[in-house]
Parts: sequence; structure tokens; C-alpha cells
Amino acid sequence: MKASKLLGKPVSDHIYSIICQRVKKLHSNNIIPKLSAILIGDDPASKIYINSKKKIFLQNDCYSEIHHLQRNIHENDVIDLIGRLNSDDTIHGILIQLPLPKHLNSNKILREIKPDKDVDGFHPENLGYLLQGNPNYIPCTPYGCIEMLKYYNIEVKSKHVVIVGRSNIVGKPLFALLCQKFDFANATVTLCHSNTNNLSEFTKKADILIAAIGSPKFITKDMVKKDAIIFDVGINRINDSSKKGYHIVGDVDFEDVFSKVKAITPVPGGVGPMTIAMLLYNTVKSAEKQIK
Ligand code: GUN
Repeated sequence: MKASKLLGKPVSDHIYSIICQRVKKLHSNNIIPKLSAILIGDDPASKIYINSKKKIFLQNDCYSEIHHLQRNIHENDVIDLIGRLNSDDTIHGILIQLPLPKHLNSNKILREIKPDKDVDGFHPENLGYLLQGNPNYIPCTPYGCIEMLKYYNIEVKSKHVVIVGRSNIVGKPLFALLCQKFDFANATVTLCHSNTNNLSEFTKKADILIAAIGSPKFITKDMVKKDAIIFDVGINRINDSSKKGYHIVGDVDFEDVFSKVKAITPVPGGVGPMTIAMLLYNTVKSAEKQIK
């Protein structure tokens, strides 16, 4: 039997249709949801992400402004800017595009964002709420994975989910989400990482395998269980001779595993579109707090 491809586009379109009604209500209250995104330095991938966020916010009748700061900016200047954005009532969400240049301490900077405007869900207060099972803002890529599980009606309760990758952006928040007593969670979750011995002994046991490693085509056929469901969260740039100069591949060797698994998210076109959809969702949720 052929595996099914779990596409992100129908799910993100579904989220945008929910958002559309809520944005109309906000507009009738003279509120336009607005994100303030901070980009530091000239990382080409970060520039692409941040510009697509802006485009999608505009398409959905919301605003997104970009503060583009020089690579060598002093930490205190970033903190001052965040302070100004925190106290501006027309701004509902603040996002610091990661990764930051090496001289900046991302934990220190993320802590400066007012938790009520932390639409990325990276502030320790929001991560704490998530761990307690009482989330305020859920980090966007993990939230997008949950929305895909919901949309495709994938049973998660009591399944063994194996996550490979322990980043603060994806692996750890997904772990915190999937182990909760929530619908489309309630799983037994194993979190593997670069120091896991005999990794494939874990991945082969996964009913649902989530790859968030940052290593191109890392997961191969011999590492997955037959009929597993695979979420590939990887976005790896591979340089080539095309006009663009690169193409994107995931953390899973798609062609290799396709004949063995039940369903898989392709890269591009799988989880990718969900991140911005959930960012917009969180920003609209923040704006709604202003309705009297
Ligand atoms: N860099 C890669 N993914 C993300 C994300 O979800 N949010 C932010 N702020 N930066 C990222």
C-alpha cells in the first residue's frame, strides 16, 4: 500500500479560514492584529522567513513590521527596542527571528518580551505554562504539528511518539505538548538527541516519529517501523546549480522511507506552511485580549 502524503496547505488554509472571521470582528472593534518582528544580521534563510511572515500577515488583513538590526548590535540596544515594543498598545506580537548572532544571549533577550506579546511562546513563563498543561501561547511549529494531527485525525492517545531533536523551538515544546492529557496528545513520548546511543533502536519503536534534527535525509528506511507515521520538521538547504542556487530537503530520506510508512509529511509542503499559520493565530489571539 502506498503511503499518504500529509500536506500542510489544506491545514494552514483551514486555520486561515478560522482566523478570517476573528480578524473581521477585530477590525469592527478598530483593532488590526500587528506583529513586530526583529531580524538581526543577514542570514539569508531568516530574511526569507521573515519576509514570508510579513506577506502572509498582509494577505490576512493583519500587519507585520520588520525591525532589521545590524549584525554587531549591542545587546542593550536590542533590549531597549523590545521595551519600546512591549509598551506600544498597537503591537500585539513580538518575534525575535532565531538563530541570533553568537555575541547575543538568546535566552536573556527572549526573557525581555512581555509574556502577553510572546506569540512565539519562547518566554520561560509561557514555556512553564505549557509544561504545566495550561498553555498560553504554544510555540508555532509544535502547534502546527498538533493541528496537522487533528486535521488528519491521527490517533495519538497511548501511541509511542519518538521525537529526534531537543531544540527549544521544536523538540522540547513538542515533548511538553504530546505528553499532556489533551486531545491529539496523551502519548508516551521519547525524546532522543545527538547523545542518544543506538538511536535506531528507539526510532524503530515509534508509532509516530518526529524528526527535528537539522540534518539532511538523516532518517532512513532501516530506522523506521513499518506503517509508522512520520512528521519531518527539518528544513535543510542543499546548494545546487539551479537558478535559486539551492533546494530544500527534510531530515527524513523521503524516497527511501515512503514505501514502508503509512503516512509522511513531505519537505517542502508538509509542516512548513503551519508555522506561519500558527504565528498568525497566536497574534490574533493576543489582539483579541484588547476587545473590551
Ligand atoms: N527560527 C526557526 N524557527 C523559528 C521560529 O519558529 N520562531 C523564531 N522566532 N525563529 C525561528
